[in-house]
Amino acid sequence: MSADLQRFSGAKVLVTGGLGFIGSHLAKRLVELGADVTIVDSLIPEYGGNLFNVRDIADRVRINLSDIRDPWSIRQLVRGQDFLFNLAGQVSHVDSMEDPQTDLEINVKAQVDLLEACRAGNPDIRIVYAASRQQYGRPQFLPVTEDHPLVPVDVNGINLIAGESYHLLYHRVHGIRATSLRLTNTYGPHLLMKHGRQGFITVFIRRALEGQDLQVFGDGSQLRDFTYVDDCVEAFLAVAVHDEAYGRAFNVGGQEPVSLLEVARLCQELAGAGGKATTAPWPPERERIDIGSIYVSHERLTRLTGWEPKVSLREGLARTFDFYRAHGEHYWT
Ligand SMILES: NC(=O)c1ccc[n+]([C@@H]2O[C@H](COP(=O)([O-])OP(=O)(O)OC[C@H]3O[C@@H](n4cnc5c(N)ncnc54)[C@H](O)[C@@H]3O)[C@@H](O)[C@H]2O)c1
Repeated sequence: MSADLQRFSGAKVLVTGGLGFIGSHLAKRLVELGADVTIVDSLIPEYGGNLFNVRDIADRVRINLSDIRDPWSIRQLVRGQDFLFNLAGQVSHVDSMEDPQTDLEINVKAQVDLLEACRAGNPDIRIVYAASRQQYGRPQFLPVTEDHPLVPVDVNGINLIAGESYHLLYHRVHGIRATSLRLTNTYGPHLLMKHGRQGFITVFIRRALEGQDLQVFGDGSQLRDFTYVDDCVEAFLAVAVHDEAYGRAFNVGGQEPVSLLEVARLCQELAGAGGKATTAPWPPERERIDIGSIYVSHERLTRLTGWEPKVSLREGLARTFDFYRAHGEHYWT
């Protein structure tokens, strides 16, 4: 264990959204590092929370089934914690367009309540907030750095900008140590699979395993970057233990950017279930919100913490396919 990460041994850590995809991997890693972990998650059925995600650590963490929109629960939960990893959120861009109010309540109002709870009851806490590269919108230059303008193409992007901005404001004005990670497409075991509204990678993985064809809109040359979930977890830990990270936002990217058609082909190859990867013309309603190629620079994060993504897309996807072959029944419905 690196000297920095020893700080988690015996530390009291709250993980909001800890039954979800990234939060559950983070909670497991924190348990391995000796942290005293409390998970808070609402388990709203349409969202990514799943008790199977914490099957290995269920007897070593406290699980509090609360909604972060309940300020009374949150006030109690933040008390006495050393770190807060804040990953609870409405994460579907599609849903945010159909039901903007719910996205606003969870991704903005509840975030303010949570920060207020920290200000009132635990101003010494250290907070890492999960933001998104979705905040940038259509890229004006590549790779996208943290100084790129924030012009999102959907409600979720706007609300994440607000969520992040509140965290950084509370740092500047109230001295609450808060930092933000703008995550790119993150993938791996524990991703929600019961519907395709949380992003195309879940659709690719599930359809490929089911032997169905994968359609990429346009010519398939749009580039994306991907972070394997274990690398993403290390980024959360790395910023949390660097005091200079507080008050700033950091991109968390992947290795080489890859075209969507290449990703689709790789999924079909690794799934080995007989489906093909093809291209199709853009449906007009999808083309309107398409952002073209996008990938981020994580140089700021690497310079400060030494963090680098270690797992290649091929390796990460292979691990992911193995996981769903073994445990798919816990995720399919
Ligand atoms: N996965 C990605 O590619 C990605 C990319 C960018 C940003 N993010 C951000 O990372 C965070 C975690 O994402 P994820 O991919 O693990 O998603 P996820 O849906 O698997 O996890 C989110 C968790 O939050 C919980 N949750 C939602 N609303 C809640 C509420 N009101 N109260 C309590 N718990 C609630 C859900 O039950 C779920 O377990 C999110 O904030 C998301 O915006 C993820």
